[in-house]
Amino acid sequence: MSTWAVLVAAGRGERLGEDRPKAFVRLGELPLLAEPLRRLDASGWIDAVVVVAPPEWEEPAILLAEEIGASKVTACVTGGATRTDSVRAGVDEVPEEAAAILVHDAARPLVPEEVIGRIVAALGEGFDGAVPSLPVADTIKRVDGDVVVETLVRDELAAVQTPQGFVAPVLRAALAAAVDASDCASLVERSGGRVKIVPGDERLLKVTTRADLERVAAWL
Ligand code: CTP
Ligand code: MG
Repeated sequence: MSTWAVLVAAGRGERLGEDRPKAFVRLGELPLLAEPLRRLDASGWIDAVVVVAPPEWEEPAILLAEEIGASKVTACVTGGATRTDSVRAGVDEVPEEAAAILVHDAARPLVPEEVIGRIVAALGEGFDGAVPSLPVADTIKRVDGDVVVETLVRDELAAVQTPQGFVAPVLRAALAAAVDASDCASLVERSGGRVKIVPGDERLLKVTTRADLERVAAWL
């Protein structure tokens, strides 16, 4: 019963606005991708890792995996135009016999081992999927342009992060049916899957802007 990780790193990083994709922007001494890759590779819960790289960055991704000794990396594939396309490309490389697949954003470099453990435990309890989440601090409103439509009940909301874990055939089926979505869990929810919320972690901050990159660098 093996658990695979798909590390999606194929985004352009437009909001960060550097001269290279976000995964290859420097974080500490190495390209950002090194940090989540090293952590997934070192995880006791993960058996193998597939890296999804931006077009023309496959080779640098493989070299980086070798440089840091990430020995669980079995494939590096080219991503697609959307995150969902990139996830699909990565999942296609996971062998049929895999029991579970964790999908993780390279843009969240600091993956705590405890969070991975919580995700895997929830799958062991019989859930189709599990996602790390944090309570929402702000009041969230549904809007239409610059007009408020309604105010959502905060206790019913959760901000979700990655890694998101799924029973492998459930994720494959959801991806086959899918259009596009901002996370994998929503695809699984749409196809009727039961997804558990487990505690996330502040350190799983997603690097979107230069300020985020500096915060994550300070936590290294
Ligand atoms: N991602 C991907 N393929 C895409 C788009 C996104 O693999 N076509 C990945 C990114 O590399 C990132 C994660 O999905 O690890 C979350 O995406 P996001 O934070 O939006 O990253 P970017 O799309 O790179 O950034 P931006 O939206 O600012 O261009
Ligand atoms: Mg994006």
